[in-house]
Amino acid sequence: MSYEEDEDLDGFDPVTPHPARLWDYWLGGKDHYEADRALGKRIAEVFPGVVDLGRWRRQFMIRAVRYLVEEAGIRQFVDVGAGLPCITNTHEVAQHYAPGARVVYVDNDPLVVMHGRALLTDAGCHVVAADLAAPRVLVEETVPLLEADRPVGVLMCGVLPHLGDDALARSVVAEVMAGMPPGSHLALSHITAVSKPELMQQVARLWNRRARPLIKLRLPRTIGRFLDGLAVVEPGLVPTCRWRQDGHVLQAGDVDEWAAVARK
Ligand SMILES: C[S@@+](CC[C@H](N)C(=O)[O-])C[C@H]1O[C@@H](n2cnc3c(N)ncnc32)[C@H](O)[C@@H]1O
Repeated sequence: MSYEEDEDLDGFDPVTPHPARLWDYWLGGKDHYEADRALGKRIAEVFPGVVDLGRWRRQFMIRAVRYLVEEAGIRQFVDVGAGLPCITNTHEVAQHYAPGARVVYVDNDPLVVMHGRALLTDAGCHVVAADLAAPRVLVEETVPLLEADRPVGVLMCGVLPHLGDDALARSVVAEVMAGMPPGSHLALSHITAVSKPELMQQVARLWNRRARPLIKLRLPRTIGRFLDGLAVVEPGLVPTCRWRQDGHVLQAGDVDEWAAVARK
């Protein structure tokens, strides 16, 4: 297939490194191009811990979905900024803990949406093309795919760094959650620069020179503001590797991505 001839891939650009394809590269997937590999390799040389960052994010997603199923009774999820289908997808986790759980995957990247529609064909899965920067449309496109009036687990893992304006990021989170039924929860993760600030700034500079969309590192206090108006559950906003780790002691030290789950 020629990508240029597929109108579903309007906006697809293989020569500019893209976050979904970079993470696919770092996590050992196959859906990346030369430009992604070149930047991915360069960043991994400077920061070999980038692979762990992605793995810890995925581990957080798994533990958060399990918590939402088992302790919050949630059976339907909206995964915003879902990324390319990869090891351990959200619906596999949700349906492992709650057979029949529904997952609506949302992304604004045409390649992610195309791969999602081709691969995520399991019962209970939908893939929606929508932009988090237009939250009203996102809610209108996703909520009708879910059971009305039942709480939703909204996941925003690694997507908010791509909204560079703090006020915009805060308002889109608030608007998405306002569109969800009472009892819905938000699970979010966001890269930061607490443990290794200079290194993370260097990684962000490398990324922003080449890749699109840009990323923004934020301090935990700014990330915490995205949860305003929601009740944050224990253990609060912490590094992904510390969120409900079932008592395991970490050898790796803290990870520069923080995460929280909060209830509407
Ligand atoms: C870092 S990846 C995270 C993937 C996945 N959530 C994970 O935890 O591994 C960020 C994803 O967000 C998507 N994205 C970036 N900006 C977005 C926006 N404004 N609206 C929707 N998706 C967006 C990208 O296409 C990419 O797939």
